[in-house]
Amino acid sequence: MCGIFGFVGEGGKVRDLVDALKKLEYRGYDSAGVAFWDEDAVRLFKIKGKVSDLETALGDILDLDIKGGIAHTRWATHGEPNDVNAHPHFDCERKIFVVHNGIIENHKELRKELEKRGHRFVSDTDTEVLAHLIEENYYGNILEALRRILPLLRGSYAVVAMHSDEVGILAAARKGSPLVIGKNENFCVVASDITPILKYTKEVIFLDEGETVSVGGTVDFVGLKDSVEKRIFHISWSERDAEKGGYKHFMLKEIMEEPEVLKNAMAGRMKGSKVEFEELKGWEDFLSNVEKVKMIACGTSHHAGMLFKYFIEDLIQIEVETDVASEMRYRKTKVDDETLFIAISQSGETADTLETVRKIKEKGGRVLSLCNVLGSTLTRESDRTIFLNAGPEISVASTKAYVAQVVVLLLLGVELARIKGKNIPAGFLDDLRDIHARFEEILENSNLIRDTAREFVKFRNFMYIGRWMGYPSALEGALKLKEISYTNATAYPAGELKHGPIALLDEDFPVFAIVPTDRMKEKMLNNIMEVKARKAKVVGVVTEGDDEVFRLLDHTLKIPKVHEYLYPLVMAPVLQLFAYFIADERGLDVDKPRNLAKSVTVE
Ligand code: M6R
Repeated sequence: MCGIFGFVGEGGKVRDLVDALKKLEYRGYDSAGVAFWDEDAVRLFKIKGKVSDLETALGDILDLDIKGGIAHTRWATHGEPNDVNAHPHFDCERKIFVVHNGIIENHKELRKELEKRGHRFVSDTDTEVLAHLIEENYYGNILEALRRILPLLRGSYAVVAMHSDEVGILAAARKGSPLVIGKNENFCVVASDITPILKYTKEVIFLDEGETVSVGGTVDFVGLKDSVEKRIFHISWSERDAEKGGYKHFMLKEIMEEPEVLKNAMAGRMKGSKVEFEELKGWEDFLSNVEKVKMIACGTSHHAGMLFKYFIEDLIQIEVETDVASEMRYRKTKVDDETLFIAISQSGETADTLETVRKIKEKGGRVLSLCNVLGSTLTRESDRTIFLNAGPEISVASTKAYVAQVVVLLLLGVELARIKGKNIPAGFLDDLRDIHARFEEILENSNLIRDTAREFVKFRNFMYIGRWMGYPSALEGALKLKEISYTNATAYPAGELKHGPIALLDEDFPVFAIVPTDRMKEKMLNNIMEVKARKAKVVGVVTEGDDEVFRLLDHTLKIPKVHEYLYPLVMAPVLQLFAYFIADERGLDVDKPRNLAKSVTVE
């Protein structure tokens, strides 16, 4: 969604603002803008379209020496994407400039009152009220003015403001939308996520809920009432981690990183045949009494949670409930001492996931989160966090983070089984330990997946089917295909076909079957016969050497033989690459699919 960057310091150029916006592009946006001090005035450039369009419009100005400024990529919520609605927004005198992520829910009332008092609005956005409110409350100090208006606002915000008369000072505030601050010898920087900050420093500070900060010669944080001491976090990601590194797309690079991601996610947690989570120390009594687990997540993270349900119910026979967070947050979920809540989120900023976690916490529930982003809101609001250690995931389609989520959940299941005195099936841990090598084998043969994808590029409909642990994989495969290739891909538990969806199938509606050599293979074979009888072409993921399945399908994508609990894991890169190659063959913007954003920070 929207992205914010701002800097102050000596030796900066307008280009620094634009370069930072390029690092934020992955979040999804439709317009971009910058405002910066030039002598004692503020100059503003904003445009509908890409950051590269803004760059072209700026031309020689990119090399102008500046003492700082603010920059924004906007993902339209209030008001269509156009030049006027792009951020930064300004007050009547064009002295105050603001960029904002989030939604000001009471913007209509505020605007009405401001207009009555003579303020002239130029955009349709909720954000513009912030500039006019600051104008009314400005007595020579931008931070104080910003602090004065916060109690008037309903909704969520990360906001950064500047005044033409206060050269070299930015004021920022957050509620519900993240902001990160960094500082090196020459610059103070503020941004909505870590990626544009890595160029400046790896030591960062996260703004907490309700805090404000003035970023200038010094960085002064103010809590709701007083000055606050802040913890400094060290970021292990490098600037290069967040670059394409020679790959055509971030998505492809991130899939290719999966063997390494698996090793990092397991490092220090899998010791011989034992699993240990430092993060769970002191929770043994609670975990041994857990009778129910409830998963909180959205999208791909929700699919990882669904896999956990099948795994845990099989391994430990405790009940696991899964629901998308956008539904769960409005349900009356029971919270008690025997229930463990697990929130899964790559970004740690997904609004529905966070709001559900808050509701559970208000009722006294215990929340363990699985997250990829250090310092993100989820990690600060959960009781415990297990980091995924997948490195920055830039492509909107989640790939390597999903693989890390699944492997961490499998390890967590093993740990819960140990705590509850249950046995782990023979062979499972051995196969898990070497799983990165299986991924390497699959990725080395990615050209075979590309060839199969080319055969299916012409189809505009797809039905993914699977059973048991193959069902969440089917859902995830279909999600990948639809989000990046705009193919109508649905997913069903194969046993449901004859209750309705099979009516869709014919020679123009292919089926993608998840059919590894697991306990449900025979049932899947029956379902495949049913769809073949309707003349649907069937492509499937099958276990290497399983000739019975091989003979039945029109096209096969092979995965190595592993313990049946691990098929969803080794299947992931195959499903991801199949979707990737179809989208790439169609010449689509794989990393930034239309209408989507990397982290969904609004409801
Ligand atoms: O950051 P999160 O894991 O909380 O994000 C949840 C979903 O928005 C995300 O998985 C989304 O479905 C991806 N685009 C899927 O590829």
